[in-house]
Amino acid sequence: MKFFVDTADVNEIRELAATGLLDGVTTNPSLIKKSGRDFKEVIKEICSVTSGPVSAEVVATDYAGMVKQGEDLAGLAKNVTIKVPLTIDGLKACNYFRAQNILVNVTLCFSAAQALLAAKAGASFISPFVGRLDDIGTSGMQLIADIMTIYRQYPTFTTEVLVASVRHPMHIVEAAKLGAHVATAPASVLKSLVNHPLTDKGLDQFLKDWAATGQSI
Ligand code: E4P
Repeated sequence: MKFFVDTADVNEIRELAATGLLDGVTTNPSLIKKSGRDFKEVIKEICSVTSGPVSAEVVATDYAGMVKQGEDLAGLAKNVTIKVPLTIDGLKACNYFRAQNILVNVTLCFSAAQALLAAKAGASFISPFVGRLDDIGTSGMQLIADIMTIYRQYPTFTTEVLVASVRHPMHIVEAAKLGAHVATAPASVLKSLVNHPLTDKGLDQFLKDWAATGQSI
């Protein structure tokens, strides 16, 4: 499973990239607002930190506007992935970008039917938002299961399932059990994957016992 970090904070991205465990980055207009930075500048900088796909979202809602903004963004770096919303215009734009060999992430997916359309439009990634579905009392992970089942029926589909709106480590574990290709999560969630109290306790005991031997390596 690939790990993307869902942030526009370059320091967070640098720190995670240094672990060698980071495969890409996703951003959205809300994360750009949170960064307080110029959109294109921050995307360029992120692309210099990671060679993996970096999603940059268009804000036009019509096909022509999406194509114009997407081409502009794609010109920033070769690993920019154009993020388009799951609308008819977004799917048309997805088709267009794929024909130009530009990576596309179709975002704001909340149903299996939408994911099927994105695969037909040639999306590189489909982003189902599991956390936002859980928030309204439905099962985000059931959607991942449904999409994986559908995509497996059609070996010609090349769309990767990018599990988004991840809120906690179990979202990632459950998505991995279903075979989802990618999870994008806030840095805090990715970092918490390593934590286990028995690891801390065990390490503490080993270090104490080692110190008691009086030896050094
Ligand atoms: C994915 O690309 C989105 O940016 C993101 O995962 C949305 O997550 P949220 O529901 O926590 O805002």
